[in-house]
Amino acid sequence: MSDKSPPLVLGLAGFGTVGAGLVRILRENRDEIIARTGREVRVKRILVRDLSRPRSCPLPEGALLTNKAEDLLGDSEIAVLVELIGGVDQAGSIIRRALESGKSVVTANKALLAEQGGSLFELAEKKDLHLGYEAAVCGAIPIIRTLRASLAGNRIDNLLGILNGTCNFILSEMSEKGQDFASALNNAQRLGYAEVDPSLDVDGLDAAHKLALLIRLAWGIDYPYKNMPVEGISGVTQADIRYAHEFGYRVKLIGYARSEATKDPAEGRIEAGVCPALVHEKFLLARVEGAYNAVRIEGNACGSLFLHGRGAGGLPTAGSVLADILEIARGATPDNTGFPLRRRATVARVKPDTDCFSPWYIRLTVRDKPGVLRDVAGILADNSISIAEVNQKGDTGEPPAGSRDGGGCVPLLIMTHSAPVAGIRTALISLENSVFVLEKPVYFRVLARSANAAS
Ligand code: NAP
Ligand code: HSE
Repeated sequence: MSDKSPPLVLGLAGFGTVGAGLVRILRENRDEIIARTGREVRVKRILVRDLSRPRSCPLPEGALLTNKAEDLLGDSEIAVLVELIGGVDQAGSIIRRALESGKSVVTANKALLAEQGGSLFELAEKKDLHLGYEAAVCGAIPIIRTLRASLAGNRIDNLLGILNGTCNFILSEMSEKGQDFASALNNAQRLGYAEVDPSLDVDGLDAAHKLALLIRLAWGIDYPYKNMPVEGISGVTQADIRYAHEFGYRVKLIGYARSEATKDPAEGRIEAGVCPALVHEKFLLARVEGAYNAVRIEGNACGSLFLHGRGAGGLPTAGSVLADILEIARGATPDNTGFPLRRRATVARVKPDTDCFSPWYIRLTVRDKPGVLRDVAGILADNSISIAEVNQKGDTGEPPAGSRDGGGCVPLLIMTHSAPVAGIRTALISLENSVFVLEKPVYFRVLARSANAAS
C-alpha cells in the first residue's frame, strides 16, 4: 500500500472516556499510523448526546459534532463506524444499521456483544465486514487476537482471569489502603474505570459479559451468559480480606471457564462463572493490583500462558480500539470470531453443579460454646466435605444484632479440600439453619496451590 492511499474515514459514536482517548491517540500517533498502514486515519463526524457539554480534548481537525446517528450512518465517505457510546439498544441499532449499509464496525461494547453477538457476528460475516472488539475485554490486553489467531493452533482447556478493572481496583484499595468500599468505587468512577451503571461492575455482570466473549473465541460456542453463575464483590468485607491474608491468600473477582476435552470443542461441557475467590499469594493472579487485569490460558500445545495489563481507562482501551481500526486500514480479511459461521449456532452445554469442584473458604459466626466445632465438622462430613484448615478466632464478641442467641460469638474460619459446588450449598443451608450458627455463612472459592487451574 502506498502513502498515496486515500485516508480511512471514521464516524465516531461517543466522545467520553474511550472516545476522547481514541481522538488523543489518533493525534499523538499520526506518524506511526501512516508508517504502519500507508494511509491516514481521519475522524469526520462524532456522535454525542449533549452538543453543549465541554469536552476533555479538542475535536480532531475538520471533524464535526452531531447528536444525530444518521449523520454518521448516511455518510458514504465514512467507511468505519466506531461505537463507543455503550448500552445495548441504541448501540445495537447503530451497529446493525452500519453493517447493513456496508460499513465495518469497531466497538468496545461487551454488554452488547454478550447479548446480541451471535446475530451481529452473523450479519458482519454475511456482509464480509469487520466487527472488531479488541477493546471489549481487558482494556489494553490483546486477548481477543491472542485467542482468535495466536492460539488457534491449540485446543484451549481452560481460562481464568481478573476481567474487571473496577472490582480489582476496589479490592486492592480495600486490601492495601484499608479504604471502604464506597470511597474506592467513587475513585474508580472518577478515574474513568467504571461503567455508566457501576452495578454492572460490582455485581460481576461486566466480567460475565467479557467471559461470554472469551468462551466464544476459545470454543466457538455461545454461552447463555444469563444462566452463568455470577456473584459480585459487594459481599466481600474487610474482615474476609484480612482473614484471607492470614491464610496466605488475596481476594479477587475472577472469571473462569473450563471445557471438557472432546474431539469437537463445541461438544465439551463448559464450567464457567464469575465470583470472588481467595487466590493463593504465590500465584501471579494474586499480585495483579489496581485497575490491572490478567488472564491465564491453558492450551494443549502452548501449556499455560499469562497476559497482564491495564484493564480499563481511556488511553489503554483506545489503543485496542485503534489496533482494530488499523487492521481495517491495512485491508485485512475480516475474521471476527475465529470460527466459521456454522459453529456459532452451537449453544454451550453447561456442566451441572454436581460435577463441578473447588476448595472453599467458609466463615461462620458461631456460638462460643463447647461442641460447636464438632457439630460444624459433622455437617460438613455429612456432605462429604473434608476440612483442610480451621481457625477459630479467640475474640469472643457480642452476638450479632437480631441473633437468636444471647451468648458470645466467635468467627470460625474453615478452608476445605476440593468439594462439589452442590455439596457445599447443601452443607451451608444446614449450617445456616443450625442453632449454633448466628449469621448467614460467608463462603468463597479458593484457588489453592494444588488447584490445576490456578498454578
Ligand atoms: P462514557 O465516558 O460515558 O462516554 C459515552 C459517550 O457516548 C459520551 O460522549 C456520550 O455523549 C455518548 N453517548 C451516550 N449515549 C449516547 C446516545 N444515546 N446517543 C449519542 N451519544 C451517546 O463511556 P466510556 O467509558 O467511554 O465507555 C464507552 C464504551 O466503552 C462502553 O461500551 C464501555 O463499556 C466500553 N469500555 C469502557 C472502558 C473504560 O475504561 N471506560 C473500557 C473498555 C470498554 P455525551 O458526552 O454528550 O454525554
Ligand atoms: N468497567 C470496566 C472495568 C471497563 O472496570 O473493567 C473495562 O472494560
